Amino acid sequence: MVDASTPILIFDSGVGGLTVYDALQPLLPQAPVIYAADLAGLPYGSKTEAQIAARVAGLLGRMAERFRPRLVCIACNTASTIALGMVREVLEVPVVGTVPAIKPAAALTKTGTIGLIGTEATIRQAYVDRLEAEFANGTRLLRIAAPAFVSLAEAKLRGKPVDLAPVQAIAEQLRAMPGGKAIDTLVLACTHFPLLADELTAVFRPEVALVDGAQGIARRIVHLLEGQDFARHGPNRFVVTGPVTAAEGLDNALAARGFGPVEAF
Ligand code: DGL
Repeated sequence: MVDASTPILIFDSGVGGLTVYDALQPLLPQAPVIYAADLAGLPYGSKTEAQIAARVAGLLGRMAERFRPRLVCIACNTASTIALGMVREVLEVPVVGTVPAIKPAAALTKTGTIGLIGTEATIRQAYVDRLEAEFANGTRLLRIAAPAFVSLAEAKLRGKPVDLAPVQAIAEQLRAMPGGKAIDTLVLACTHFPLLADELTAVFRPEVALVDGAQGIARRIVHLLEGQDFARHGPNRFVVTGPVTAAEGLDNALAARGFGPVEAF
């Protein structure tokens, strides 16, 4: 039986995984969580598959040894679509990934045209091709990379104002793609993007429904941990790779979510 104080480890390159944390927290309020942000490796989206796989597998191996989590959630689409299988092979605890929410989007679209925004690395993955073939057969899936949104979301959580221009630019590029005007559903295939929900809503709504996987991932975690006890002693932990100064400005966002002071991994 797992000890009640054993943590859940949530991992992302930056603050994006907080969207999964936000969905999970109300479902398991007593669960001790360690959130690990690989700020020294951010952004993943512009890296190669080999770089991402080596980094994620290596870091999660070391983190699993140090923190002894009961479950690991890779709260990053880029890392999951590239390294999920590899990480599962080396860790002895359940590993939950975050993959683009193409299945729910396909169930939702009425026009049959879905947009998908993710990082450069995510949108070129065979994993996404497979999800498209399995769940979006018969619909048109238009993919576009929106790497600027990652830094926008990081800045927003540090209390900086968000410039809408990059969001408008992506909307225009999507609509200019063949068939793009018919998009009625948009998959947010990067965990950072729901942090820009207000900005995305301002630009895409009401014609376009926004879909992300955070709620589904949270429910999956709850299901896998069914029957386990949870006892949190003290605040949840927020750990970063590299210098803790990279997390400067996040204090309010972290305190509001019940985290203690930023720690170095
Ligand atoms: N949050 C990550 C994702 O879901 C991407 C951010 C990055 O480029 O590092 O894909």
